[in-house]
Amino acid sequence: MKKILITGGAGYIGSHTAVVMAEAGLTPIILDDLSNSSESVIDRLEEIMGYKPIFYKGDCNDSSILNQIGKEHQLAGVIHFAAFKAVGESTQEPLKYYQNNLGSLMVLLDFMKKEGIQDLVFSSSCTVYGQPDVLPVTETTPRKDAESPYGNTKKVCEDILVDYVKSKAGVRVISLRYFNPVGAHPSAKIGELPNGIPNNLVPFVTQTAAGLRNKLTVFGNDYDTSDGSCVRDFIHVMDLADAHVKALNYLGGQSANFYDVFNVGTGHGNTVLEVVETFEKVNQITLNYEIGPKRPGDVVKIWADTKKINQILGWFPKYSLEDSLRDSWNWQKTLN
Ligand code: NAD
Ligand code: WQD
Repeated sequence: MKKILITGGAGYIGSHTAVVMAEAGLTPIILDDLSNSSESVIDRLEEIMGYKPIFYKGDCNDSSILNQIGKEHQLAGVIHFAAFKAVGESTQEPLKYYQNNLGSLMVLLDFMKKEGIQDLVFSSSCTVYGQPDVLPVTETTPRKDAESPYGNTKKVCEDILVDYVKSKAGVRVISLRYFNPVGAHPSAKIGELPNGIPNNLVPFVTQTAAGLRNKLTVFGNDYDTSDGSCVRDFIHVMDLADAHVKALNYLGGQSANFYDVFNVGTGHGNTVLEVVETFEKVNQITLNYEIGPKRPGDVVKIWADTKKINQILGWFPKYSLEDSLRDSWNWQKTLN
């Protein structure tokens, strides 16, 4: 069985990807410093997968732990999730974000070179598009200046990868631009664990429903959209996880010095108010919410054109928004 290193594999998207990888016959080797996750996730993975995944607690900026993993395992590829992701914090502590998000990628690329590991899947984000002029966004839609240091780290990491592949380093790389990941494993054994007050919509919705937050504020209802609230492309985390397995398989068939980028979204947008209504309907809950002021710098509307990933990777989402919001709520209920 091929062993794949998953950096940040105890985190939200990484843990779900470990499950889907194991189902596809790949062996996940997880490296995580637990800076935004908990070791209990590894036990939960054991419950879902039927065996305990190999786990190293460590920082992927630290080449000694990578070297140790390289000695102990013959790795067929790497998925690099590990990064800091809090947009607001990144404006307060930009160096923390540049150091971790850029630094870890470069240390990892050096490690891959030393070990002769060719294949890398990198976690990028639709944040690189900013507010696009034309919708839906394709992979050739121009990237915009980043709104935050966090967003800029994703853009710069993509650039580092492009330049590295151009240098004929021998690697094969895919950047996946995730739209808005939501949902949780249908077993409700793993899910998103936001730190403190959530910034993202769905964790705020589920925490409000659970009584941990008094009310949800919908940031604006007079935008130029169907109901005035913002539009996003909400993708179930299990579908997103599956895209990583498809990306790895595809890389296996490419020649050296390969780079490509794929949007990972459902291909359609939903408004914030549609999310609220759908959450209420599927979970039979009345959510306490109010319309509040716009959030400064918010993207008004964005959703993905997914033809490229559909056609080239043969990836299609299987879960609906209803599934996502039911699974997010089932997960939240286990945390109460
Ligand atoms: P997460 O915080 O849940 O997971 C990231 C994991 O990486 C955490 O477990 C954290 O402890 C670990 N980590 C951070 N720095 C590390 C380091 N130096 N060494 C080892 N481990 C480290 O975040 P997530 O939502 O699962 O996001 C995964 C990736 O996807 C990130 O790169 C993120 O920027 C990107 N992304 C996330 C979203 C989103 O909305 N969740 C959207 C687009 C892109
Ligand atoms: C979604 C919509 C809000 C909270 C962020 C990052 C971005 C990317 C994904 C990683 C918006 C509205 C939210 C609330 C609300 N991550 N909202 N009330 O804005 O797409 O982007 O996550 O790469 O970098 O910036 O996601 O979940 O914050 O917001 O009305 O309490 O929900 O205004 O329209 P967003 P989000």
